[in-house]
Amino acid sequence: MEFKTITLTISGHVAELTLNRPDKLNALNTQVLSELREAVALLRRQEEVRAAIITGSGGKAFAAGADIGELADLSKSEEGASFSQSGQHIFELIENSRMPFIAAVNGFALGGGCELALACHIRMCSETAKFGQPEVALGIIPGYGGTQRLTRITGPTYAADLILTGRTIDAQEALASGLVSRVVSSEKLLDTAREVANAICEKAPLAIRAAIEAIYSTDQSGYEREANLFGKLITTNDFREGTAAFLAKRKSKFTGQ
Ligand code: COA
Repeated sequence: MEFKTITLTISGHVAELTLNRPDKLNALNTQVLSELREAVALLRRQEEVRAAIITGSGGKAFAAGADIGELADLSKSEEGASFSQSGQHIFELIENSRMPFIAAVNGFALGGGCELALACHIRMCSETAKFGQPEVALGIIPGYGGTQRLTRITGPTYAADLILTGRTIDAQEALASGLVSRVVSSEKLLDTAREVANAICEKAPLAIRAAIEAIYSTDQSGYEREANLFGKLITTNDFREGTAAFLAKRKSKFTGQ
C-alpha cells in the first residue's frame, strides 16, 4: 500500500508509523487521517506485528492538530459532528487494537495531535515536546476524544485546566501530570520507544491483548456528547472568527455568538 502523507515500516514484530507532512507541522488533514486509518487497519490485520510506534517527521512536531484550513470550511452542525466522529473512529481503532501503540512525541502535540497521542496506550516524549488542547481559541472543543481521554488520563481538574485555558505545556509538566510516562532527549526518543516496544513483544501476546482490553473498557456516551457539542459549535460566529483569525495570522475577537 502506498502512502503519501505518512510512512509505515515494519521491522520484526514492531511497526513504525510516521506522520509526514512537516511543512504543515504534520497537521491532520483528510488525507493524513484517511492514510492513518488505512495504516492502522492494515496493522490490525498483521498477526506478526505486536507493537506500533507513532511519531512525527521534521523534528518540530508530532502533529499540530486538525488542519485548520479544512476545519474552516465546515459550517453545518451535522458536518461538524461527522468531522468529530470520523476522527474519534480512527483513534478508537488505535485504542481498541490488540497491539499496544506507543506515541513518541517529538515536538508539538496540539489539538488532534495531542488527542492522537492520548489514544495511544503509552506516551513518551522528547525534552522539547509541547502538549495542549487549544481548540477553545478557535471557538470549538477537542473533538477527537480529547475531552474523554484527557479527563480519564489526568483527572478532571487538570483536564479542565488544559482544555478551558487552551494553554500549552512542556515535557516536564506533561510528565508531572501523567500525560506521558517518560521524557528523554530528542536523540534517544525513537530508540527508547523501540526498546519499550521490543520489551512488550517479548511478553505473552494473549496477556498483552487481555491487558489492553481490561484497561480500556469505556463508556461510549461521552464521545457521542463530545461529537454533538463539537457539531453545534461549528455553526457559531466565534468558530468562524477563531479559524479566520488563525489563517490570517491575527488575534481573534470573540462575541459569544
Ligand atoms: N492546521 C493547518 N496548518 C497548520 C496547523 C494546523 N493545525 N498548525 C500549523 N500549521 C501550518 C501553519 O499555518 C504554517 O503554514 P505556512 O508555512 O503555510 O504559513 C506551518 O504549519 C508552520 O506553522 P507556524 O504557525 O508558522 O509555526 P510556528 O512555529 O510559528 O507555530 C504552532 C507553531 C504549533 C504554535 C502554530 O502553528 C499553531 O498554533 N498551530 C495551530 C495549533 C492548533 O490550534 N491546533 C488545534 C487545531 S484544532
